[in-house]
Amino acid sequence: MNSSFIKIIKNILIYLGIISLTVSNAYSNKSKPTIDVGAVFAMTGPTATFGQESISGIKLALKTINKEGIAGRKIRLILEDNKGEPLESANAVRKLIDMDKVSVVLGAVASSNTLAGAPIAQKAKVPLLTPSSTNPKVTMMGDYISRACFTDDFQGVVMAKFAKETLKKSRAAIIVDNANDYSKGLAKVFRQKFQEFGGTIVSKDDFAYQQKDVDFRSILRRVKRKKPDVIFVPGYYTEVGLILKQAHQMRFNVPFLGGDGWDSPKLQQLAGKEAITGHYLSSHFSPDDSSPKVQNFVKEFKKEYNERPGAMAALGYDATFILANALKNAKNLSREEIKVAINNTKNFSAITGNITINKNRNAVKSAVVLKTTPAGNVFVQKVDP
Ligand code: PHE
Repeated sequence: MNSSFIKIIKNILIYLGIISLTVSNAYSNKSKPTIDVGAVFAMTGPTATFGQESISGIKLALKTINKEGIAGRKIRLILEDNKGEPLESANAVRKLIDMDKVSVVLGAVASSNTLAGAPIAQKAKVPLLTPSSTNPKVTMMGDYISRACFTDDFQGVVMAKFAKETLKKSRAAIIVDNANDYSKGLAKVFRQKFQEFGGTIVSKDDFAYQQKDVDFRSILRRVKRKKPDVIFVPGYYTEVGLILKQAHQMRFNVPFLGGDGWDSPKLQQLAGKEAITGHYLSSHFSPDDSSPKVQNFVKEFKKEYNERPGAMAALGYDATFILANALKNAKNLSREEIKVAINNTKNFSAITGNITINKNRNAVKSAVVLKTTPAGNVFVQKVDP
């Protein structure tokens, strides 16, 4: 063998060596393929704080999770803005599945949006975990759809009981957002339960408005004529803020009650100082909760964003940790096994409570009742399921 031939062989070996080096590098810790997670949230539009807050919570959780990764693989979030619209939500889920080939989807917040996206995920057999959609129908879409929160069947009972037993009210009016599955569902539960607890609902049909309405005075005039001593408004903060403001201008002097859809700092801004005081909502979490777990989260969140976290931030954070835990426990990272692992979540210690996903893929956990004040919502009581 001559020396030039040996040289060539040697070069080939080095060449191969380099190749094998790059190949092994691609599979070493640093550059293992990511686990792609889709996210569908309202980042713009009338419910933009829902998405913005959720994403703040999700990103904060990912910061911790991605330090180690899932067996060295990092989670990559692919975010789609659904603008708060059902059709946009459906398109976003389809895009994430077809184009981005995500392993799992997080989202949305508003139940009508999740209800539009969930059938697509179910059909494609891609797990979808909503942090915060509470309408009972959401998880009935199939075994790939689960949630990290309680349902409106629970939330509605909590507020009906609070109105009747804690506030000792007996005549309730209900004002519903007719373009909103969440609002209609929650109104129905409240109506039924308030009556079961011995109260009266002042009208056979709920007083109805549509999302994006801005003038509620004619509805409020009709409500006033029925002389309710409490008014239940299971809507979203954009409209509820204006309803509270206009009711105050019309000298309503009864408390208004609502659900988690009120839980946004924008509610305070829209209603204004005078109108916001003395109403109540049910929600998932209170930053006033003295448990060390909650207080550590509040501290971590404040450090990152310079503000107190709301319910959606906490739920976004929790859903991301539930997902990370499921990814760690899954037999493999197929969509099917990820689904199985999410649905097997048991007694998972989270910010919004200890989360067990039950056989209907809903989380069983406590709710909080909060009182509205100009400085933000304050904790009143915790209600266990
Ligand atoms: N639960 C609401 C829904 O299903 C969404 C929501 C969750 C709003 C948490 C505020 C806070 O439509």
